[in-house]
Amino acid sequence: MELNLETDYADRAYTILASLVTPRPIALVTTISADDKINAAPFSFFNLLGANPPICAFAPGDRENGIPKDTVLNVRATHEFVVNLVDEAIAEAMNQCAASLPFGENELVRAGLTAAPSSIVKPPRIAEAPASLECVEWGTLQIGGNRVVIGLIKRLHLREELFDAEKQRIHTDKLFTIGRMASPHWYCKTTERFELKRPD
Ligand SMILES: Cc1cc2nc3c(=O)[nH]c(=O)nc-3n(C[C@H](O)[C@H](O)[C@H](O)COP(=O)(O)O)c2cc1C
Repeated sequence: MELNLETDYADRAYTILASLVTPRPIALVTTISADDKINAAPFSFFNLLGANPPICAFAPGDRENGIPKDTVLNVRATHEFVVNLVDEAIAEAMNQCAASLPFGENELVRAGLTAAPSSIVKPPRIAEAPASLECVEWGTLQIGGNRVVIGLIKRLHLREELFDAEKQRIHTDKLFTIGRMASPHWYCKTTERFELKRPD
């Protein structure tokens, strides 16, 4: 069957597409306001987009009242953010960070997560995250009601056990990132893996 997402199903486009295009990685994004208040929020309209230079993007929609989310206001003010990856151990805490707290209230405290200093950007990274990407905003695209925040990844922090320093590779068998499935409540683990060799 075929659905027209521009007419009949326009109101259902989010629910239908977000349940189909799965699993999606989750960025737990930390930012700070102009007056240095910490904010954290998860975004699954998120991905790595390139490596030369390293870039990633996430897409925060506005609140129902049309007001941009705190993350957007902070990136607009400071042009910096940190993407913290989410594994099984911090899944519950990540979910706590999706609560709509008043502007300026720190979701990390509520979620029991620890802010650790970043190296070159002002927003902190999350100590419990398996990996964190320090980003400087490259630019933000406005496409209708969507906003796509593109970041240049300036530093990567990762849990020591995840990095094979000799081979300069990630120990992916020790990484348990989760994925976003159907909105609003479903997730998947990434523990069932299989190898598929590319044809020559
Ligand atoms: C797993 C997960 C993924 C989410 N992904 C998005 C997203 O891609 N875009 C978005 O606008 N909101 C998304 N949300 C909702 C925001 O996290 C939520 O609106 C949050 O309160 C925004 O916080 P802020 O105002 O502090 O930026 C997601 C929530 C969860 C739990």
